[in-house]
Amino acid sequence: MINIIRVHNYDEASDQAFALMKQYLQPGKVLGLATGSTPLGLYARMVKDHEENGTSYLEIKTFNLDEYVGLEITHPESYYAFMHRNLFDHIDILEDNVHIPCGLGEDLEEKAREYDEMIDQDPVDVQILGIGSDGHIAFNEPGTPFDSLTHITDLAESTIQDNCRFFDNDITKVPKQAVTQGIGTIMKARNIILIATGVNKAQAVKDMIDGPIDEACPASILQKHPNVTVIVDEAAGSLLA
Ligand code: GLP
Repeated sequence: MINIIRVHNYDEASDQAFALMKQYLQPGKVLGLATGSTPLGLYARMVKDHEENGTSYLEIKTFNLDEYVGLEITHPESYYAFMHRNLFDHIDILEDNVHIPCGLGEDLEEKAREYDEMIDQDPVDVQILGIGSDGHIAFNEPGTPFDSLTHITDLAESTIQDNCRFFDNDITKVPKQAVTQGIGTIMKARNIILIATGVNKAQAVKDMIDGPIDEACPASILQKHPNVTVIVDEAAGSLLA
């Protein structure tokens, strides 16, 4: 069953997400992290909390959900660069404890398998998720098998369009493939917090919560997870029953 927290706006959603996240900011915990604009407010609060309260990440590990294929990690829109710019560079986490899927070089499928093995060794205590306007989680587009593990995927046309704004609004610059944790990988997390804000997410939120559990809406599988909290603002929750 999905636990729903309704808030007014993005700032309140970020406050709620941080309040839930705070209990996992302890030695030995494993955080599952996401990219996109949605978790930026949460990450800003984590940085502020580190600076003001000295919350330490020295004994915390992280696993990110996904990465573009073929984008150098020095490219500002790589998820590696995104995570360092918005979180890792501002807290005391050890680079060795940071894990982001590799989208460069040979043997990407082999590296993807190794990524799942690492997650199995250090199971994720809390996974942060956003949601795509087509209901995708990480880069698991509609039709992705619910039991999928980390894999290489083609991005849906709508996702390429949504991401265009990060690549000078030039569609030719947007990567067309990504390496992503599978839905089966994500479902192994002990706890999941999904944040959805803005009217662009309203239909996906409705399909995730009120719709059938169907691969047409990847996020709908969360209905089967034992410990999911979805934080929605008024706009993203506007179509809910
Ligand atoms: C990308 C990411 C997802 C993210 C989604 C939504 O597709 N791979 O993990 O949830 O974008 O992005 P945003 O939060 O910017 O709306």
